[in-house]
Amino acid sequence: MPRQVSIFMYGALFKDIILGVDRFPAEDSKLAARTVQTRRGGNTGNSLVVMSQYLGESDIHGQRVDVDLNMIGCYAGTPESQAADVMVTDLTSRSISISSCIFRGPEFTDPTSWIIATPSTRTIVNHNTMPELSSAEFEAHVLPNIVSASGEIWAHFEGRNCLELSRMIARLDQWRTSQPDRRIRISVEFEKPRRLGMEALLKQCDVAIFSAVYAADYGYDADHHDEFLRWIRPQCLPGCIQVITNGDRGATLAQGPTDRHGECLLTHIPAGKVYGDAGVVDTIGAGDSFIGGYILGMAALQMDPRPACEFGCRVASAKCGLVGFDGVALLVKP
Ligand code: FRU
Repeated sequence: MPRQVSIFMYGALFKDIILGVDRFPAEDSKLAARTVQTRRGGNTGNSLVVMSQYLGESDIHGQRVDVDLNMIGCYAGTPESQAADVMVTDLTSRSISISSCIFRGPEFTDPTSWIIATPSTRTIVNHNTMPELSSAEFEAHVLPNIVSASGEIWAHFEGRNCLELSRMIARLDQWRTSQPDRRIRISVEFEKPRRLGMEALLKQCDVAIFSAVYAADYGYDADHHDEFLRWIRPQCLPGCIQVITNGDRGATLAQGPTDRHGECLLTHIPAGKVYGDAGVVDTIGAGDSFIGGYILGMAALQMDPRPACEFGCRVASAKCGLVGFDGVALLVKP
């Protein structure tokens, strides 16, 4: 019998309009884009697309795993009007379920990002007027899908809409206490700092994933991620595993027993390999690819945090050598 794992990923669904340029333009100048591409974007959708490439893998114990991938988010339009749109098809064609998504109607537009992409940088200007998922909508439309999902559950949340998100996670956690025999884990991404109510989420997750931008905002630059983790760790749940990503410098993982000064086991994981002769060609969603590999490693493949983090770093680096996300699983094996 294969193991059953259901993964739910909550976040904003962006339409990415990507202007490919050789160099970042000077302010108040004119520059012709080499390419223009429209892609489905958004952190958790990107992570799911990476994960979907590993469906059918066995876990590290050689046991087959059936992984069920689910997006939680809000679309503009209706299921009918959006049926052929890349925002939908890019997920559904990869067996990612959107039955936990809400369609807000024709008067709304999908959140959009205009991305100026050089081979090694991506500068994002976004616009998002989509009402965020409310905790009442979560309770009515999403929680029933989680409750009826089979096997082990991993629910991941982009740290946005934090006051409502805190209620959603509390509700999920309340249900979790009624399921003592099931493995149900909750992770949160802390990417953009200082969102209203964000700190409360530190105490609501089993796994916390931080961006370098988040740490920098609290005064911890890329050379001080150990100190950041020692500082943030006591603010999290006891036993919570933290990781912070650091671009082409890899990631740092914090786990294990902690004393009151935040001393714990810290592990530096180097970045992986960028394949291909062209080197880095597209960094959009590299961090999301890390999260995809890291969560899939722990949730589905039964990896401990450290190998899962290594897997995430290898996936993220390989992604940077590819335009988009397709092909990562051909380059990186768990
Ligand atoms: C990349 C990304 C893009 C999206 C933007 C949203 O990490 O998810 O796909 O447009 O960030 O902030």
